[in-house]
Amino acid sequence: MNNSMKLCISLDLPTAKENLDLVREIKDFDVWLKVGFRSFIRDGRKFLEDLKAINPNFKIFLDLKLYDIPNTMADAAEEIAKFGIVDMFNVHASAGVEAMSTVMHRIKDIPNKPLVLAVTALTSFDNEAFKAVYNEDITSKARQFAKDTHVSGIDGVVCSAFESLDIKNNTSLDFITLCPGIRPFGEDAGDQKRVADIPFSKENKVDFIVVGRPIYKASNPSEVVEKILSNI
Ligand code: C5P
Repeated sequence: MNNSMKLCISLDLPTAKENLDLVREIKDFDVWLKVGFRSFIRDGRKFLEDLKAINPNFKIFLDLKLYDIPNTMADAAEEIAKFGIVDMFNVHASAGVEAMSTVMHRIKDIPNKPLVLAVTALTSFDNEAFKAVYNEDITSKARQFAKDTHVSGIDGVVCSAFESLDIKNNTSLDFITLCPGIRPFGEDAGDQKRVADIPFSKENKVDFIVVGRPIYKASNPSEVVEKILSNI
């Protein structure tokens, strides 16, 4: 990917109204919108339609991190793809190659099929907690997950900007990397442990930067979005 880095805004405000108000403020920008569990469980497909009604050019990333047996994951992926308004969704790489391949096979002929990303290692794990679950070091296992993801036909991974280049070097340069933990201009990290700014993300060939709080907590979100877009 990476002709130009894209901005994906996390819609992490507590209510649909607050998220929609934010989106109305930034309605003229060419951005992706990340919709997570909370909004989707509460507001469902209607919320996605409300976003597209504000500007049909918005791209939607449905961040549901599917994880189940292959057939059940493929059933869910098919339903998401058939919405026709989701541009990207994700699964867990630890569901395995068979599950990811089954997902990709199931959606391959659906018109306007979404991009599919996989989560390698959740960033809430430190090495010890990760080892307790996967019995391996986080760095080597995350790299293995990225390779599994790539051979399964998945389009890319959710990862840290610090891993983006290594993952591309171990898969392919056009394998998509989508990276949270971005503080575009070195803003407050909040609960993020390692944060990257825009120049670092560019150097590491990040395809999508995910930005939440630096935008929705700003007194003028559209000014921040404009500044980010002009820098990428
Ligand atoms: O507010 P902030 O910019 O830190 O938001 C980052 C977004 O990315 C949040 O929605 C968070 O849940 C998500 N995320 C993350 N780290 C990951 C995966 C997702 O911060 N590894």
